[in-house]
Amino acid sequence: MNQDKIVAIKEAIAQARAKNKEELEAFRMKFISKKSVVGELFAEMGKIPNEKKREYGQLINGVKQAAEAKFQELIDRVNESSKKSKSADLDLTLPPSNQSVGGIHPLTATRQRIIEIFERIGFNLSEGPEIEDDWHNFTALNFPENHPAREMQDTFFIEKNPDIALRTHTSSVQVRVMENQKPPIRTLSPGRVYRNEAISARAHCIFHQVEGLYVDENVGFSDLKNTLYHFAKEMFGKGTKVRFRPSYFPFTEPSAEIDISCLLCGGKGCNVCKGTGWVEIGGSGMVDPNVLENCGIDSKKYTGFAFGMGIERIAMLKYQIKDLRLFTENDVRFLRQFRPLL
Ligand code: PHE
Repeated sequence: MNQDKIVAIKEAIAQARAKNKEELEAFRMKFISKKSVVGELFAEMGKIPNEKKREYGQLINGVKQAAEAKFQELIDRVNESSKKSKSADLDLTLPPSNQSVGGIHPLTATRQRIIEIFERIGFNLSEGPEIEDDWHNFTALNFPENHPAREMQDTFFIEKNPDIALRTHTSSVQVRVMENQKPPIRTLSPGRVYRNEAISARAHCIFHQVEGLYVDENVGFSDLKNTLYHFAKEMFGKGTKVRFRPSYFPFTEPSAEIDISCLLCGGKGCNVCKGTGWVEIGGSGMVDPNVLENCGIDSKKYTGFAFGMGIERIAMLKYQIKDLRLFTENDVRFLRQFRPLL
């Protein structure tokens, strides 16, 4: 057996290079295929005397393995460099492919539409903090000391004594406006509110309200009704029906809940309107004189109305959305549908 020949082949394998597919193939032909120099070494096995066969076999197997390992290494290198040269081939002067653009979130669009409607009839915008004290969220609004809405089940308290909580409604903003401005006041306060409620298709612990307040001389319940009729027709279309149901809120007297005919099922009954054909969109009423006085407004001279509506509820009706949770899940398949609003 020719030791020198084997050493020379091993050396040639170690030194081999390949820049492209053709050179890879040349390497394969030279060192790996049956007819390669390594293949010949195997063919010579028959000429080796029996007592040397074992040693020779080990030797040429080592050569074979070295050839295969080198081949793999060369393939990897060629692939790697072809990837690099491909990216170098990029034509940066080509026009960009169409990037999809984001849209306006349905809640933002709804809020904007509500603001537009009320701004046109003379309401300005006001905002307040989401972390509120007891005075602005409850006491100034005439909540009796033991009113259940103050209890932990509804309110997310941050601190007790003195109480600091996440506001449970945007009525707190009305208090701030009345404390700081003189009538006539016509203001709209949209914002996020928090209540400790179980999350379902109809309720969430975080949602949005828009509150309206009108304080002036001689403001009456008919002003409230006409304002909300106007709003419902502008928002949902001329055929929309509105009904007022007597209700109770500590800060208004008399109070009424505002329902509109369910646009989702056309009044036939569905899971959104709980089969009644009507959907509650908020509460309303004449501002209780106690509230006016708490905020430094003369209740003998001035009267006012207030209303508060859920923005999610309105968006659900407007866009026929059956599950309130979709608003906060950020599922692009849902959000994409509102792109035309851009
Ligand atoms: N703040 C009330 C609520 O959160 C709604 C409301 C606002 C009712 C103004 C009457 C007047 O339910």
